Formats: sequence, structure tokens, C-alpha cells
Amino acid sequence: MKVGVLGSGDVAKALAGGFIKHGHQVMLGTRDTGKLADFVAKHQGAKAGSFADAAKFGEVVVLAVKGSVALDALKSAGAANLSGKPVIDATNPIADAPPANGVLKFFTSLDQSLMERLQSAFPDAHFVKAYNSVGNARMINPQFPAGKPTMFICGNDEKAKAAVRGINDQFGWETADMGKAEAARAIEPLCMLWCILGFTKNEWTHAFKLLHMA
Ligand SMILES: NC(=O)c1ccc[n+]([C@@H]2O[C@H](COP(=O)([O-])OP(=O)(O)OC[C@H]3O[C@@H](n4cnc5c(N)ncnc54)[C@H](OP(=O)(O)O)[C@@H]3O)[C@@H](O)[C@H]2O)c1
Repeated sequence: MKVGVLGSGDVAKALAGGFIKHGHQVMLGTRDTGKLADFVAKHQGAKAGSFADAAKFGEVVVLAVKGSVALDALKSAGAANLSGKPVIDATNPIADAPPANGVLKFFTSLDQSLMERLQSAFPDAHFVKAYNSVGNARMINPQFPAGKPTMFICGNDEKAKAAVRGINDQFGWETADMGKAEAARAIEPLCMLWCILGFTKNEWTHAFKLLHMA
């Protein structure tokens, strides 16, 4: 599979590394390819280009930029290059204000998530929320004594979610599909919950698991 990863930060590199590990081809998108020279040199199968180059390249696109600039990055990527494709949205709407007792502030409300904003701005792209509520160091095939952690996902397009489910299988996660785009109102704040342990106890290695009776 060809994957376009929008971003040059830790999440973009972790997910790009995961796709390469599992035999996919990756192009990362950035405003400054110089930032990725080291990564590309060390990862066979990785290329770097503009946001538009990466979006065009991908059959699947990953959005891994700062939440407050997600719309700008997608505009640079170009609606036509995203149209009809699954867009894995790993972003969080983290505000610039500092956390209060370890609790991050968001610039969104509980009545509208960032992913819903992105979905309405780019109606022909198929956004799927995923990989937003675990640290980048544990995104790819994490090993936990309690077994596979749970990746909570949501999105309006069933085919796009099926594609993300397949990626989650490869990356060592069980998938919990929470439904349509509105479910991102609940999935995005999992990032707040996840980060509390980091900010208050310096514990950054955990992940969530959903337990069922059967
Ligand atoms: N860090 C984690 O472990 C973690 C875990 C789960 C989810 N997340 C979420 O994943 C996303 C990426 O996190 P990160 O820590 O890897 O990186 P980040 O520092 O939040 O974002 C870096 C990316 O944002 C882009 N960016 C910044 N300003 C921009 C602008 N004005 N226009 C266009 N693009 C701009 C940068 O583009 P350039 O390449 O052009 O500089 C870069 O690719 C965030 O939304 C974060 O909340 C993070």
C-alpha cells in the first residue's frame, strides 16, 4: 500500500516507521523536507515531499500535524488529493494554554470535535480517528503484559474504517469502532485522560484497553 503521512514530528515518524516495517511505501509531507532528511536516509521505502506530494502519493493518508494547524495542512495537501481516500486522523485539538493540574485544555467543545470540523471542510475525504490517544513510542506493535491494547476509532465511511482496522491488526491493536464522526467528541478527550498520568506521574507508557464480558 502507498501511504502519505502529513507531518514531520514524532507521530508522523512513528507511524511512517510502522508502515515501512510492515512493507508499505511511505511519503511524508512537510513544509520543510530538510527536517526529514535523517529519517529518509535511515528508512528504506520512505520519501519526503510537500503536504500535497504526500497526499497525492497515498492511497491512505495519515494526518499527524499540530491540531491547531490541521485545517491549514489539509488545505496545503489539497482537497483533490484527499478525495475518496481514508484519512487517519491522529491529531488532538490541544489549546496553547498550559494544562490545569495535568489536564490539557482543548480549543474544541464536547459538542464538536476537531475531526468533525475537518470532515465538514473536506467532505470527500474519509476521516477515521485513530492513534490520537497513545504515545508515539507505543503506536507500533506495543507489547503489554495484559495483551493487545484497544484502538478506539470512528468515522463516517465504513470502507475507510475497514482499511484502518486492517492497519490496526498489523500494528498490534484491537479495534473498537465507536461509530460515526461524532464519536470523535469522546475519542479526542482520551488524549486528555492519557496525558494526565504523564503530567502528574511522569508515566508515559500506558495504553487503553476495553474489556468485554464475552
Ligand atoms: N506526540 C505524541 O506522542 C502524540 C500522540 C498521539 C497524538 N498526537 C497528536 O498528533 C499530532 C502530531 O503530534 P507530534 O507531536 O508528532 O507533532 P506536533 O509538534 O504536534 O506537530 C508537528 C507538525 O505540525 C506541522 N505544523 C506546525 N505548524 C504548522 C503550520 N502553521 N502549517 C502547517 N503545518 C504545521 C509541522 O509541519 P512541518 O513539517 O511543515 O514543520 C509538523 O509536521 C498532534 O495533533 C498531537 O496532538 C501526538
